[in-house]
Amino acid sequence: MLNKKIRNILTIVLLLFIGATLFAQEVYKDPNAAIEDRVNDLLGKMTTAEKIGQMQQFALYQINDGLLAGVKAGKFGSFLNAGDLNDKNRLQKAAVEGSRLGIPIIFGRDVIHGYKTVFPIPLGQAATWNPELVEKASVIAAEEASEEGIHWTFAPMVDISRDPRWGRIAESCGEDPYLAAEIGAAMVKGLQGSSLADENTIAACAKHYVGYGAAEAGRDYNTTYIPERLLRDVYLVPFKSCVDAGAATLMSAFNDLNGVPTTGNEFTLKQVLRDEWNFDGFVVSDWTSITEMIAHGYAADEKEAAYKAAKAGVNMEMVSQSYANNMEELLKEGKISEAWIDQLVMEILRIKFRLGLFERPYREAAVDSKILSDDNKAVAKQAAVESLVLLQNSDDLLPLSYDIKKLAVIGPLADDAKSQLGTWVPDGKPEDAVTPLSALKEILNEKTEVIYAAGIETPRTKSTDLFGEAIKAANQADAVVMFCGEDDLLSGESHSRAFIDLPGAQVNLIKAVAKTGKPIALVIMGGRPLTFGEITGDVNSILYAWHPGTMGGPAIADVLFGKYSPSGKLPVSFPRTVGQVPLYYNHKNTGRPPTADQLGIEQGTPENPLGFVSYFLDVDFTPAYSFGQGLSYTTFEYSDLKLSSEKLKVGESLEASVTLQNTGDVEAAEVVQLYIRDLFGSVTRPVKELKGFKKISLKPGESKTVAFTLNTDDLKFWDIDMNYVVEPGEFNLWIGGSSDADLMAEFKVE
Ligand code: NOJ
Repeated sequence: MLNKKIRNILTIVLLLFIGATLFAQEVYKDPNAAIEDRVNDLLGKMTTAEKIGQMQQFALYQINDGLLAGVKAGKFGSFLNAGDLNDKNRLQKAAVEGSRLGIPIIFGRDVIHGYKTVFPIPLGQAATWNPELVEKASVIAAEEASEEGIHWTFAPMVDISRDPRWGRIAESCGEDPYLAAEIGAAMVKGLQGSSLADENTIAACAKHYVGYGAAEAGRDYNTTYIPERLLRDVYLVPFKSCVDAGAATLMSAFNDLNGVPTTGNEFTLKQVLRDEWNFDGFVVSDWTSITEMIAHGYAADEKEAAYKAAKAGVNMEMVSQSYANNMEELLKEGKISEAWIDQLVMEILRIKFRLGLFERPYREAAVDSKILSDDNKAVAKQAAVESLVLLQNSDDLLPLSYDIKKLAVIGPLADDAKSQLGTWVPDGKPEDAVTPLSALKEILNEKTEVIYAAGIETPRTKSTDLFGEAIKAANQADAVVMFCGEDDLLSGESHSRAFIDLPGAQVNLIKAVAKTGKPIALVIMGGRPLTFGEITGDVNSILYAWHPGTMGGPAIADVLFGKYSPSGKLPVSFPRTVGQVPLYYNHKNTGRPPTADQLGIEQGTPENPLGFVSYFLDVDFTPAYSFGQGLSYTTFEYSDLKLSSEKLKVGESLEASVTLQNTGDVEAAEVVQLYIRDLFGSVTRPVKELKGFKKISLKPGESKTVAFTLNTDDLKFWDIDMNYVVEPGEFNLWIGGSSDADLMAEFKVE
């Protein structure tokens, strides 16, 4: 009897034990368990080989049995460019249902400025100075991409770019750390939404960490030397902002930074990113950037490259396989520990859990697809409208009048659907893009005859054979709109240019058309600031359109005909000539700054009478177009700059306000910009620094008070002892419509 009782008790205990064990085994599968518990549970169950598999990202070219076997063996934590939705679901099935632990794959893709609905290139989006709009565009990019099974994009790129020769300036948010921080954070928020676990959001990846945009002479992949203060004051700023906005991942870069490739750089990847910023997501290398450390001369072989990247904290390896090939051996040799691998893998798993991949590994084909929907295209058009920067408008040629009877449309980019999409559009299709030529025909209907002549075949064409047609078209017309610039091919990764002028025979084409005496509005498309001083006198108006995306045509057409006034402002300074590069507004003053007397110096003028100052003998020291600049169809007047206080204690704030009036006769938006200068410091400070901006829309005659709050924290910089502080002293503050703003007030920090 007693025996039976004991037996029963033992059975119950045993059952409870088995139940508890079983339950414990399933913690990582339990959606209600805390993510950290799930990560730890899963990690505890993984073999070393499975852990190393999670660190491998592979580029997919073709699914075959060998690859599927590899997925089932847990060899690939991630794929980039993994085909269509069916391909992704097939791979995912192999991982989730075929592998021992069922860890889902994270699918990455370059969704850089839109998925199938393509928005303006990031540099163009930065020119909107409208973070809310940029966020909306990123929401759409994420929705469209996630519909096709993408979990993760390699964007935003927030590399500060002060060199227009660099092809990847197109992917950047420009030269200014404040603007890039605001636009980059808006992109992160848009892509990731309020929860990564939502079906329609995807993980962001702030790249390329860090300094990649400072490549010597703008040659892609080239060496960078950035002193720590400059790195922290400028280059790191937008990355910090993306991390603060919740960016799930970062990508290390290709460049050698101060002698240590960024993919093996413990200072940036460990000290700054993990220890100072407490980043808890993961870092992916750039494409083979781990093994490229061998060519850099920083690692003798693949094994050492793997060791150095892992030691620096690169969690996932893109494409090359140095981790997969060497990690176990490094472990056996005692060079790295299991705990070290665990840390790297844990950070990857954490994001997979946050993305909800364990609960929702597959994506069903959408019943009601939002891809390229009218709503999405409307946002793409709005973004393109707001990205357009009016640089010149003599005789107020723009906006054009609908009374024009005959309009000549000339130039190689008037009807080039592919080029207007710009660089990095693996999924955007030219056939979905509306070109300026077709949009103009559409809005002008029968009332205005559109006479089209390309004039030259592509922007790079040197032949003048087709000039005749263009001249004929211009001669027949009342006004001419020309579309010139650079095609998509000339911009982007590894597409650096030593000459940044209008390529091919375009300058001659513009001059030939100008000889007809017809008024010309020139629209320039490009992935970078171009130099075009030779033709500014030949045309009335210049509208800078970047590569404006799917809806670039309708946006340009509506702006040309005045449905909207241009409101874009330059996110980067435009040099007069490539010889001025690097040229950026937030430079240091030097001991011998040039003054207005040193403008317009004629070539060959002897140097002495002009003074020994920092300028060029053969070109003005000023840019052709300044950072923050952009005209409108109306005029804005700034007045009554007021500070709530002229003295501030550290930790206090002041309010700076200005009256903005629309003094013209059309409704338009203006980007009101606030700049400061810290006059003296323990280290020298830039002549101007952007600290705030607001985009304000005003009706004709309307005026508004525009106010900014400035805290002394906003004035901090890295001082002589490398502390991040605000130093007491005098400051200038400007509010205006560009970095040339001259309405100034003074205040002191005590
Ligand atoms: C290399 C590029 O540098 C990077 O920006 C991109 O995300 C990856 N290739 C993946 O395509």
